[in-house]
Amino acid sequence: MSKHTTSIDNTLVQAGRPQPLQTRQVNLPIELGSTVVFDSIEAFEQARDHRYQTGVQYYGRYGNTASFELELMLATLEHAAGVTLTSSGVAAISLTLLALLKPGDHVLVADHVYGNTRAFCDTVLSRMNVTVEYFDPMIGTAIESLFRPETILIMFEAPGSGTFEFPDITGITEVARHAGVWSVLDGTWATPVFCQPLDLGVDVLVYSASKYISGHSDCMMGVIASGDANMHERLRRYVMAIGDKTGAQEVYLALRGLRTLKMRIQAAQASGLEMAQWLAEQPQVKRLLHPALPDCPGHEFWKRDCTGSAGLFGVIFHPCDNEQLREFVNALEHFGIGVSWGGYESLVLPVTPVRTAKSWDEPGKLVRFNIGFEDTDSLKADLLEALPLLNSSN
Ligand SMILES: Cc1ncc(COP(=O)(O)O)c(C=O)c1O
Repeated sequence: MSKHTTSIDNTLVQAGRPQPLQTRQVNLPIELGSTVVFDSIEAFEQARDHRYQTGVQYYGRYGNTASFELELMLATLEHAAGVTLTSSGVAAISLTLLALLKPGDHVLVADHVYGNTRAFCDTVLSRMNVTVEYFDPMIGTAIESLFRPETILIMFEAPGSGTFEFPDITGITEVARHAGVWSVLDGTWATPVFCQPLDLGVDVLVYSASKYISGHSDCMMGVIASGDANMHERLRRYVMAIGDKTGAQEVYLALRGLRTLKMRIQAAQASGLEMAQWLAEQPQVKRLLHPALPDCPGHEFWKRDCTGSAGLFGVIFHPCDNEQLREFVNALEHFGIGVSWGGYESLVLPVTPVRTAKSWDEPGKLVRFNIGFEDTDSLKADLLEALPLLNSSN
């Protein structure tokens, strides 16, 4: 076997480091800077004319050695023609949609998308006179029936980060490509360790690197990746034109986080599954929404398209009062109450699904758990004390 065999493991360790690897500090430094100076006007003009390319130093806003290394590493992991970093996951989503849509267009958006994606569509896109139509995330290839002559794009998420339905990625991208409609997927949950959406036909992959990629709840960043060089350049030029940019410290933290991504997400997978299966047996629990468990809508698509699962999942508890739910959440000691996920710490969050395509009629209370790296015995003991505050099935 060649010692240069490419694997996710080797890319995570070796990419984005000073070359050659000998007699250097292991990591690239935090690289601050705005102005870049050149030896000659010819060198300046050469950089100016190629400033949208990853690797060309022209001015701080276009990137520097460390941000280019991070983009190249992510492009390798995602099997992308190119990657552009943004200041947050929301920026990656909104700038991609803004770059591809114009007044008069029709966009199909999965009903389970992240709350801010919906807010962006309902405020910014609708004000731009883009028609936003929400669809049932489990629609599959029948999405074709929603296509109009002015349909430009499908925006979806795998799985929905509040309700966890896992859509038929390949079915949707196949009919979309056939009709000349772009597909944009928020793939934050699975990370490149467990899924390569661009290989499944997705045109643009967007995600929040604030979650597992950086992995320590200390960094905000977004990623836009495309398998097509023209699409990549179009989106990159748009991001640069708007002037969005990720900070030097965040680039450092994301590069550092990536070194341990595979181990962290495998640990999150193991603890997440253990906790989900344990919770499923508790009398207060009605149903688990975890893509790796058979009860979750789209489990069969998760099985087909992913090689693993993250530590974020939903639990539907038997119907109870809002006050009971609040007491339960307040009683937990190991679970922080907060948004976001993918860090090292466990979190809990009651979720009220917003649905406009198909009503959410599941009786009971939905609570989202992010399982961190605490020992699972302590997490179970914490839950065992709080669960009696909720109603049981009998
Ligand atoms: C699925 C998903 N996409 C995007 C985002 C937004 O990312 P960021 O917080 O980095 O803007 C979040 C959470 O915040 C999310 O859960």
